[in-house]
Amino acid sequence: MNVLRIVVLASGNGTNLQALIDAEKAGRLGPGHIVGVISDQRDAHALKRAASAGIPVVIEEVDAGLPVDTQLRELSDRLLRDLRDMNAELIILAGFLVVLEGEIVDAYAGRIINLHPSLLPKYGGAGMYGETVHLSVLAAGETESGCTVHIVDAGTDTGPILLQRKVPVLRSDTAETLAERIHGEEHIAIVEAAALMAEKLSVLH
Ligand code: GAR
Repeated sequence: MNVLRIVVLASGNGTNLQALIDAEKAGRLGPGHIVGVISDQRDAHALKRAASAGIPVVIEEVDAGLPVDTQLRELSDRLLRDLRDMNAELIILAGFLVVLEGEIVDAYAGRIINLHPSLLPKYGGAGMYGETVHLSVLAAGETESGCTVHIVDAGTDTGPILLQRKVPVLRSDTAETLAERIHGEEHIAIVEAAALMAEKLSVLH
């Protein structure tokens, strides 16, 4: 079977990256093979996880010297160059907190998936990430939440949904306890979605 080259983008702790690394080791990523990890944060723990697994890493930070309205576009263009250099075939945004803009979205249409910590289309969109999502879910009195993996399109958290996993929201929950419960489901969802996409894309070689 053909190997399907995966690049994971992560900004923080990287527990979802770790789930993907462990899944590949256990033979649960199908043809998927993680060939690189890119972060916009040089101190992201995700980079250490990648290095420990022997996966090459690249750091691409926002250039704060540029006009604010061009920063994300310029970073996206650098990411596109890196992905092409790595011959990436599937890109996984696993806790990557930069919104991709411009050419990269079209160049990798149908090949970028994003993990989001809510049941989209609820609690998605600009500024909705990490703790903000969980605080909003709690403030609205929701009785369930969860995570979504979707294909990235030109919007923010708007692309076609691949899969979702639900968790109950408890009356005693804080943003932290809810985030932790959702994290457990994310580790399953991201692996399932990656394997699904890797299988699907590998036949298009
Ligand atoms: C995950 O909960 C992921 O859903 C969220 O960041 C966390 C990263 O955790 N992503 C977003 O909020 C994107 N909108 P991790 O670094 O432990 O994998």
